[in-house]
Amino acid sequence: MCGIVGYIGSREVAPILIKGLQRLEYRGYDSAGIALLDGGLKVYKKAGKVSDLVQFIKDKPQQGNMGIGHTRWATHGEPNDRNAHPHFSEKQTLTIIHNGIIENYAPLKEELKKRGHHFNSDTDTEVLIHLIEDIQENERLTLEEAIRVALNEVVGAYAIVIISKNHPDQLFMARKGSPLVIGIGVNEFFVASDASPIIEYTKNVVYLNDGEIAVVSRQGDMVIRNLGNQVQTPYIQELELKLEMLEKGGYDHFMLKEIHEQPTSIYDSMRGRMHAPSGTIKMGGLLEYEQKIANVRGFNIVACGTSWHAGIVGEYLFEDLARIPVEVEYASEFRYRNPIVNTDDLVLAISQSGETADTLAAIELAKQKGATVFGVCNVVGSSIARATHAGSYTHAGPEIGVASTKAFTAQVTVLTLLAMSLAHKRGTIQESYFRQLLVELERIPDKVKQVLDHTSDQIKFIADIFKDSRNFLYLGRGYNFPVALEGALKLKEISYIHAEGYPAAEMKHGPIALIDEEMPVVVLATNKSAYDKIISNIQEVKARKGRVIAVVSNGDEVIKNLAEFVIEIPETEEPLTPLLSVVPLQLLAYHIAVMRGCNVDQPRNLAKSVTVE
Ligand code: G6P
Repeated sequence: MCGIVGYIGSREVAPILIKGLQRLEYRGYDSAGIALLDGGLKVYKKAGKVSDLVQFIKDKPQQGNMGIGHTRWATHGEPNDRNAHPHFSEKQTLTIIHNGIIENYAPLKEELKKRGHHFNSDTDTEVLIHLIEDIQENERLTLEEAIRVALNEVVGAYAIVIISKNHPDQLFMARKGSPLVIGIGVNEFFVASDASPIIEYTKNVVYLNDGEIAVVSRQGDMVIRNLGNQVQTPYIQELELKLEMLEKGGYDHFMLKEIHEQPTSIYDSMRGRMHAPSGTIKMGGLLEYEQKIANVRGFNIVACGTSWHAGIVGEYLFEDLARIPVEVEYASEFRYRNPIVNTDDLVLAISQSGETADTLAAIELAKQKGATVFGVCNVVGSSIARATHAGSYTHAGPEIGVASTKAFTAQVTVLTLLAMSLAHKRGTIQESYFRQLLVELERIPDKVKQVLDHTSDQIKFIADIFKDSRNFLYLGRGYNFPVALEGALKLKEISYIHAEGYPAAEMKHGPIALIDEEMPVVVLATNKSAYDKIISNIQEVKARKGRVIAVVSNGDEVIKNLAEFVIEIPETEEPLTPLLSVVPLQLLAYHIAVMRGCNVDQPRNLAKSVTVE
C-alpha cells in the first residue's frame, strides 16, 4: 500500500520518479506527488492517478537530480491534494514520503501543536516529519540522529524517505513493517517500495531490514544503522526480475495478461519440484524441515484475501490426501484472538506480495509462541519470505493487476505438491493414485490453456448478458467451494457487483431467499463425488427462476439440459479441480468489469499490497 520511489545521482530525476510511480501505482492510486531538490525544495501533488499528476506538472519547472515520489492509498485523511504526499516539516526544510501508519500520531500532533506547529493535512505522515524537525532543532542533533530518535518514539509501521534542503547530497530512509529496497548504481542510488522502478537502471539491490535507517549520498556512500545506532553491513543481492515482466505485452490489461500467463506460471511453480516418471516431489525450501512436517499432528494456515481462499483449497488437500487436520484463518483474526499455538507447532502463511501487514503480524505472533512458520510467497525477498523459517516460492512472476489470478493458481499448485508429498511420506495415499495425480498435475498447464482457448468467447457472450446484474451467487462443493468464494471475490473486486460465494448446500440456509429471475447463479459442477447433490442444487435454483451458469466437465449432457449456460472445461482429478475451475470465473469477472467500464487493474478503494492492518 502506497508506492514510494526516490533517487539521488546526476540524472534528471522527474522522469525517473514519474515512471517509477507508474510502475508502483498498483500499490495505491488515490493521489500522487513528487518532491524535487534543485536549490530549493519543490513539491507537486495532486489527488487522482499518476496521470493527473503528470498533467498537473506539465508546465512546471522540473529540474533536479534528487527527488522522491509517492502514490497513495489513503489511511488518514481523504484522498485530496492536501493529504497527498510528500509532506513538509514546519519550516519546510524537510519533506517526506511514507508508507504505513503512525499509530500514536494523535498525541504527538497535539504535543507539536502546543509547541507552535501548524499542520496542512490530516495525515499521520505530516506529524512524523514535523516531529523529526522539532527533535533536530530542539535537541541540536544531526538529521540522521533526529530521525532515529523520532522513530524510536513512534508506534506503527513505516517505510519513509526524506529529503532535506540542508543536505543536498544525501537521501535519508528507514523502514519498519513496510518494504523498502535500495538500488545501487555508480554514484547514484534508487529507492522504492519494490524493485519494479529500479530494474531498468541497476540489478544490484539491498532490501532494508526492519528497524534500519539508511543514508545514501551522491558520492556513492551508503551507511545503514539500526534504531540502536549500530552500523549494519548491507547484503547486496542481484535482481532476477526482467523488465518485460512488468509490461502488458499486448494485452489490454495486466489482469488479462496474468490470466493468460497461467499455463506458464503453474508450470513454473512446479518446475524442478516434481518428476512424474519416477514419482518424486522435492520442495527444496523445506528440505531441512521435512521430518518435522511429516510428523506434524496438525497446523494452521494464515492468509488474507485470495491467498486465504488458496488456504482453504490447501485445507481440503492436506486433510483429504495427507490426513492432517488443518485450520485456515484470516490472519487478522488469528493475530488478535489469542490462538492456541504451542512450541513445536507449525503455521503456514500464504501471501502473494509477502508484505500483507496482518499476515506478517500473525507470523510474528506464531514465532513468539515458539511455532515454526513456513511461507508460501510469490515475491522473492519480501518481508514474509524473510520472516518465515522456511518456505516455497510460488514463482508466478510479478502480479500487477490488483485482483489476484495467477498467484492463486500458483499458490494452489505449491499447496498441492506439499500435500501430495506429505501424503506420500506419511503413507496416506496409495502409490498408484499418487503417481496418477502427479501425471495429471503435469497436464494441468495444458488443460488451463484449453480452458483459455475454448471458453473465452463464450464467457464474453455470457458476460454481456449479465453485465448489468446487481447481484451474483457462486456455488460449489468440496474442492469447488473455495473456488466459489474466489469467483465471487473476483467479481466484486473489479466490477463492483455484489457477489457471494457459498457451499452449494448451504444456499438453502439463507441465500436462496435472494433468488428470483434476476439472479445469476454460477454453479461449479465439475466434481464427480457430489455430482447428484449439485444437480439438486441447480434444480432448487431453477425452481425459483434463478439463472444458472454452470461450469461443467467436457461432455456433461445432463447439466447442459438443466442450466441456461454451461461452460465446459477439461476433466481432471478432483483434488486438482480448483486449478481449472477458477479460470472461467476469472475471465467472467474480467469481461463483466471491462463491459461496465471499470478500471480492471486498479479497482476503486483496493490495493495490491495491503501493508496496513
Ligand atoms: C489485497 C489484494 C488481494 C490479495 C490480498 C492478500 O487485498 O488486493 O489480491 O489477495 O491483499 O494479499 P497477499 O499479498 O498477502 O496475498
